[in-house]
Amino acid sequence: MEDFFQKPKNYKINEGFRYVEDNLYCEEIRVCDLLDSEVSGQTISSPIYVYSKRQIETNINNYKTEIQKSGRSMQLNYAVKANMNPFILKLMKKHGVSLTLVSGSELRLALKLGFGPGSLVLNGNGKLDWEVDLACKSGVLVNVDSLFNLKQIIRVCQAGGYVAQVLFRINPDIDPDVHSYLSTGQNGCKFGITSEELEEVLQIAWESERIRVVGLHCHIGSTVHDVENFRQSTRILVDLFEKLRNRFHEMTILNLGGGLATPYKEQIMVPEKVKHELHLEFDNCTEPNKLKLYEDLINNRITLPTFVSMLQSFSGRETTVSKIRQYLHKEMVVPKPADLINSVSDILPSDTIAILEPGRSMVVNSAILLSRVLGTKLSRKKNYIVIDGSMTEIIRPCLYGAYHHIELAEPSQVNVCHQSALVWDIVGPVCESADFLGKDRKLVTPHEGCGIAVFDTGAYCSSMSSNYNMRVRPAELLIDGDKVEVIRKCETFENMMHCYDVCNTD
Ligand code: LLP
Repeated sequence: MEDFFQKPKNYKINEGFRYVEDNLYCEEIRVCDLLDSEVSGQTISSPIYVYSKRQIETNINNYKTEIQKSGRSMQLNYAVKANMNPFILKLMKKHGVSLTLVSGSELRLALKLGFGPGSLVLNGNGKLDWEVDLACKSGVLVNVDSLFNLKQIIRVCQAGGYVAQVLFRINPDIDPDVHSYLSTGQNGCKFGITSEELEEVLQIAWESERIRVVGLHCHIGSTVHDVENFRQSTRILVDLFEKLRNRFHEMTILNLGGGLATPYKEQIMVPEKVKHELHLEFDNCTEPNKLKLYEDLINNRITLPTFVSMLQSFSGRETTVSKIRQYLHKEMVVPKPADLINSVSDILPSDTIAILEPGRSMVVNSAILLSRVLGTKLSRKKNYIVIDGSMTEIIRPCLYGAYHHIELAEPSQVNVCHQSALVWDIVGPVCESADFLGKDRKLVTPHEGCGIAVFDTGAYCSSMSSNYNMRVRPAELLIDGDKVEVIRKCETFENMMHCYDVCNTD
């Protein structure tokens, strides 16, 4: 049997990242060359977030192309909470993407960057008066999340003399089969108007001259793998929309939320069962193009999802593909924007505008966190790779048990005879046992100082980062071909102390 993945990595991950002989590249840059380099007069030290502009633009275009193909009237609103870096927001604006916001500060930033207020959406189950005031004064769409939120909007608008443009956020009671923290549209969760409050909300909204109801909204959760869930929630929204139209004549918008899953596990090693299936199928194969594909896989020139999708294009391979698929983790092959859009297009009334508000799927695969290995530690129970990145830059593994793929970003310099892969936990320096980035990962032993990449950190990593243990937030670099731009400076000790007067007066 061929030993998969003992060969140097030479595969393309996406439009932004690829391996060449075990060296990770972001566009035209070998990422480890960034460490300790000078960019615009700043010394870049690890850890750093490295973003690919090309991959962000690819993600935007994927959505835009599918929207166009659907022939439906749809507006794309990027959910800023996934990553608020103003450079990314400017890129969204350049490509005609609007924004969904969850706080007054996100709204201030959007307005500062010149986004048209009429297509921005302010969402939230606990809005502050000033946030509601700014949104309504600016003509931003506001999601009504509850009875008290509606009363608050009316009160604020009365004081300011505005009319609010609102969408009702509906709780469709759908279980999207995701981590419980990421489920937002089930009965009993804190988001959306409850069925108990709905009638009173409708009545008050109808009677108020300060409220202009323009549509409905729902968001069932995040990392949703089965697009049937979106179809179901859209159906519920459409049914209610048809019922309410007689009362609220100005309703034209159906905001379907975000939440599409992304393939966090697309680079994982070929599972044993899949290897077995492949050997049965290909060991005596004589068809040159299929054999070539198989050789590419076992020689680490393509990833398993690429292999499966290319195999699919050869006719007559459906049984192999479906056999392989049953052994693949759901985070390896996920639905695409096309699947999401196709799942809802035919049930949308023709005279409505649908808003899609993806966050993760627009940016997640556009970035890595690049760290250095501080050292390794072996023991009978666990082996550790200790790196300089930590839970303060990537909280998702600790908070949700989330998987982020981790690979060395350059060849290990540890003596080749010690190079059989061991199983490691990859941990950071934070004083807390929850500070892990990956558990039980098979990797060759890295040398001290070796570059190591944590993948898929474009969404909910930088935006959820913290100063715990007084760690400074890292720099963020944007790669565009062979150009490198600092899109966020590394924080300093002084930045962290800025709000503490006792230190500033010393
Ligand atoms: N719209 C609304 C109303 C939302 O609440 C969210 C995310 C989105 C859109 C975007 O969802 P996305 O396409 O990014 O899945 N911190 C978690 C994710 C929480 C998302 C909450 N809402 C994580 O790291 O996985």
